[in-house]
Amino acid sequence: MKLIVANFKMNLLIKDIHNYLEVIEQKLNKDQVIFCPNNLHIKYFSEKNYLVGSQDISFQEYGAITGDTSINQLKEVGITYTINGHSERRQYFLDNKYINKKVKLALSKQIKIILCIGENLKAFEENNTFSVLKDQIDNALKDNLNYINETNLIIAYEPIWSIGTGKIPTNSCLEKTILNIKTYLKETYNLNLKVLYGGSVNLENIDSLQEVSEIDGYLVGSLSLDPNKFLTLINKINN
Ligand code: PGA
Repeated sequence: MKLIVANFKMNLLIKDIHNYLEVIEQKLNKDQVIFCPNNLHIKYFSEKNYLVGSQDISFQEYGAITGDTSINQLKEVGITYTINGHSERRQYFLDNKYINKKVKLALSKQIKIILCIGENLKAFEENNTFSVLKDQIDNALKDNLNYINETNLIIAYEPIWSIGTGKIPTNSCLEKTILNIKTYLKETYNLNLKVLYGGSVNLENIDSLQEVSEIDGYLVGSLSLDPNKFLTLINKINN
């Protein structure tokens, strides 16, 4: 079964969430899909026993960090996963030090991590994809290996140039990059991790993406905002 993560980013209002939940009611496998709505909307999903993740956590457990949300507060409303290192967070808010701290904090609190990695267009065009990904992996895993196992860390490979753009890597490129990620994790860290693909996954490209045998699931942004389209996508993935 392929894992599917829905990343709502900063979209939807409470009335949309209620409508969303009505549309999907009884129509999906609750073990397959992880919803990552805005923090204010997490409880609506967790109350109905969906798997829920936050889009980020504070790097500190509690204290004086205005504007942040602590992992304890997010656990209280029902998350069991958190996204870490999404490129939009890396761009505006994070440096590598925090991503590393967040891995340790989340895993020590039994929250599973969806770690996003991905290269920008320049690195892709200059054939530097793998060295960027390797640095991002090393930085996130450094000193955290005692906490990590094959069920609590999932990698999401998201080329930055594919997010929200409609452009995705070719299948052979994806097959190669994801295999490189898996081989590196196995050889360097002795970890067999699931690797998801994210970036402009939609109803037009999903059949082709499904031919990439190394993809273990998808991280879906824009398309997941429409519950009917999202259900259609899930059906296509499962058939
Ligand atoms: P997208 O977003 O599907 O809208 O490209 C994916 C993501 O940012 O996780």
